[in-house]
Amino acid sequence: MDLAKQARVLKPYFWTHQRDDLKLKLIAALGCLVLAKASNLATPWLLGLLVDKLNGEALVSTWVLGAIGLVVVYAISRLLALVFSELREVLFTHVSQHAIRVLTRQTFAHLHQLPLDFHLSRHTGSLDRLVDRGTKAIDFLLRYIVFNVGPTLIELALVCVIVWSLFGGLYALIITATVLVYIVLTLKVTSWRLRFRREMNSADNLVAGRMVDSFVNVENVRLFTNEHYETDRLDRGLAEYERAANQSRMSLLYLNLSQTLVVLAGVTAVLILAARNVESGLLTVGGFVTLNTYILQAFQPLNFLGSIYRQIRQSLIDMESLFDVLEEPTESDAINARTEIKGSTITFDNVHFAYEAERPILRGVSLTVQPKQTVAIVGETGCGKTTIGKLLLKIIEPDQGVIRFGSNELSQLQRHAVRDAIGVVPQDTVLFNDTLGYNVRYGNIDASDDEVREALKAAGMGEFLEHLSAGLETEVGARGLKLSGGEKQRIAIARVILKNPDILLLDEATSSLDISTERQVQKNLDDLASDRTTLVIAHRLSTIRHADLILVMRDGMIQESGDFEALIAKKGQFKSLWDLQQIANQKHTSDSTHHPTHAY
Ligand SMILES: Nc1ncnc2c1ncn2[C@@H]1O[C@H](COP(=O)(O)OP(=O)(O)OP(=O)(O)O)[C@@H](O)[C@H]1O
Ligand SMILES: [Mg+2]
Repeated sequence: MDLAKQARVLKPYFWTHQRDDLKLKLIAALGCLVLAKASNLATPWLLGLLVDKLNGEALVSTWVLGAIGLVVVYAISRLLALVFSELREVLFTHVSQHAIRVLTRQTFAHLHQLPLDFHLSRHTGSLDRLVDRGTKAIDFLLRYIVFNVGPTLIELALVCVIVWSLFGGLYALIITATVLVYIVLTLKVTSWRLRFRREMNSADNLVAGRMVDSFVNVENVRLFTNEHYETDRLDRGLAEYERAANQSRMSLLYLNLSQTLVVLAGVTAVLILAARNVESGLLTVGGFVTLNTYILQAFQPLNFLGSIYRQIRQSLIDMESLFDVLEEPTESDAINARTEIKGSTITFDNVHFAYEAERPILRGVSLTVQPKQTVAIVGETGCGKTTIGKLLLKIIEPDQGVIRFGSNELSQLQRHAVRDAIGVVPQDTVLFNDTLGYNVRYGNIDASDDEVREALKAAGMGEFLEHLSAGLETEVGARGLKLSGGEKQRIAIARVILKNPDILLLDEATSSLDISTERQVQKNLDDLASDRTTLVIAHRLSTIRHADLILVMRDGMIQESGDFEALIAKKGQFKSLWDLQQIANQKHTSDSTHHPTHAY
């Protein structure tokens, strides 16, 4: 993106159409900038006048102002310079904070519209940093280019003009030459230093990434007693950072030293010339003071030129990554996609799908789920059962074939309408780091506390809830880690009960429960499923015994279908799976009577 395009993209955030107050504030901030700079420029001149007045050799008439009057005016002018620049910061902050808010909200909403795949292929926390850095970069760029670098360059030019008109061309020439050498030197040395900075940044990212990952996996670290390994791994990153930071600081020394040498050379040249002119009576002492102050004042903001230049380059990169994300295509519905779903028959017609072209997952799946029927899908792990659910939820699109939902093709329905109609109990339940009540209410944001309790009861969590002193306000911990696997799964069920959808998608909904709880929850699920279209995915075949239709998947296709009795009678794949599980169950039961085992 070039600068002009970036400016065009940014303009609406800072020049907000419906917010005339913010437009006025931006204009006022620019006004304050001009006034602050004017006061700044007048100060050295006033100081010179004052010195001359005190020396009794005033060349310029100081009107009615005596020496005291001049001191007061000088003080006021310094004060004004400060007041106006503070005001400018305050006013601009109003504008830029609003811009940051709008941009962050927009990016957040946009990220939620992106395909799930986009999120799955990123590291935890990296998006949060990207948004944070991107919006800060925009604030920095505007603040510094509009209010700092630009005005400083203009101020420098004005200083040269003032010095030229007050003291002659030679002084202006020396100042200009010094400034130019200073700028070129700073940019060159800073570019050279960027190497160390980059090394620091990448070491910093490495350390942050390892730290986040280590804490996300805190349970794994404990279980494998790898605390030392984790610490050493982090320390390697820290050592890398330490080395780069030291080198970077050393290079800053070179920069500061060379900058100061250039400024001193310029100042010395100007002052030697001025001193000789004072001696020969061409310049007053006041003029000498004015010159000295102007030249020091001119270089003061340039001190930061190096770091500002570096940050501008970094900010441009950060801003670009933010805009790249904003340009990522979102999930989109067909133009005339319907919001209304007619009927609840689900049909897959010769559906093909592959996450990666070379590894097809579904290779011609056809199935029909009639309204209010319960259809079960079984098959070995990794055969694509969850993938069928994702296709139905429009999280992914089929490569070939058609999916119908009610009387419409799925592609002609809006994503939100489809997802509203389906209640999912997922295979792995991840919870928000909030309370139990919050997590259940996620199924229906408007539900009352009583409804939440009812739902938990229906999911077999009534007794559990009674034993909690904080009740619905109990915190579940990061990703729900303070709850057992079975409790999490029942929260997921309660959430769906509260949602009360037309269609149920149960993906291993009871896999984490013990047999007796499973029976009880299974009964509640059966009640829930009795008047709804239901798609069940299960490994434990006993749980789907009563399904209206069982589909056996293999090699990306439905190999067998029928109800339980029919499939057993067929003596095919389902029968052998069933026999295997029966044998395993018997073995397990006899094993556990001889050697009682404990979990952990
Ligand atoms: N986002 C993804 N990107 C690439 N491959 C994926 C992705 N999600 C799943 N897969 C692969 O697709 C295959 C089918 O996955 P799926 O989750 O549908 O299996 P499943 O039948 O539900 O298995 P399980 O019984 O273990 O839950 C797996 O081999 C998996 O590795
Ligand atoms: Mg699965």
